[in-house]
Amino acid sequence: MTSTSIRPSTVTAVAHPNIALIKYWGKRDEEYILPCSDSLSITLDIYPTTTTVWTHDGAADQLTINGVPADGGALRRVEQFLELVRARAQRPERLVVETVNTVPTGAGLASSASGFAALALAATRVYGLDIQDVTLSALARRGSGSASRSVYGGFSIWHAGTGRGAAGDSGSYAEPIDAAVDLALVVAVVETAAKPISSREAMSRTVRTSPLFRAWVESSRLDLAAMRAALRRGDLDTIGEIAERNALGMHATMLAARPAVRYLSQASLTVLDRVAELRRAGVGAYATVDAGPNVKVICAKAAADAVATALRELTVTREVIVAGPGPGARITAEEPR
Ligand code: PMV
Repeated sequence: MTSTSIRPSTVTAVAHPNIALIKYWGKRDEEYILPCSDSLSITLDIYPTTTTVWTHDGAADQLTINGVPADGGALRRVEQFLELVRARAQRPERLVVETVNTVPTGAGLASSASGFAALALAATRVYGLDIQDVTLSALARRGSGSASRSVYGGFSIWHAGTGRGAAGDSGSYAEPIDAAVDLALVVAVVETAAKPISSREAMSRTVRTSPLFRAWVESSRLDLAAMRAALRRGDLDTIGEIAERNALGMHATMLAARPAVRYLSQASLTVLDRVAELRRAGVGAYATVDAGPNVKVICAKAAADAVATALRELTVTREVIVAGPGPGARITAEEPR
């Protein structure tokens, strides 16, 4: 539903990152960010992004990230996204965008997911568009695919949809799903530097060159069906097993790309080994890794502190944070300026 309403002058929105248990890796349409497969994630209660926007008389959008003016690729990406919102709202004014990320940007901890979910919500509101849920999710997707899932709290599934270009646009969105499980994610930060290759470029190369890519799409489809059943049952060990194999399968497709994309570092492998050891010792702990070296460990809430302690003992971990399910994107302030 799209309708116009009274326009506030300054809007602040907050969104949290999400971690996929079934990964999104590979686009069938790069411009419209239409994925090759469905994905499923949990929105976390850590590392929120807070984005404040207002319209101004200037000729261009302005962006600051953590107080530092952004230019180049980051600014272009935001401008392109805001063009979509302006076209929808039929409003010409440019925006000032102030974003504060509490997650290390670019380290595979999904700052683009929380960032574009918060921006989609704040920008649509400041331009007087009242869009929410699946429509907001489909729009956030145009900024960053995984942002479609950070619109919601808890678990959500992003439907790949069908078709390409404008014909596929509105059918590719996330929606919330129920899960009967008390799950924690223990984030083992081993590196905070920006990743050597963006997920956008790495994904594109994988689709174009990896001989394993088709097999990954097919196995991910089966993983998703099994994951949904395990979430309904609240079967944490099966949830963890599927999430771990799905993530490793995604990394396998990248390792087979030409040239190879390798986000896993020695430190990541050390953490993966420790997680396997914990399992042998009877702790239900399973790992997932995104487009960066940091490892997120899935376990029962009751086991999270013990898992965190075990990971903190490793010399390769810089920081270990226990996260739980977090809230969806929301407006936190609207004021006349
Ligand atoms: O939305 P992007 O371009 O940041 O892609 C993120 C892809 C992964 O984090 C690796 C997997 C996922 O589903 O979040």
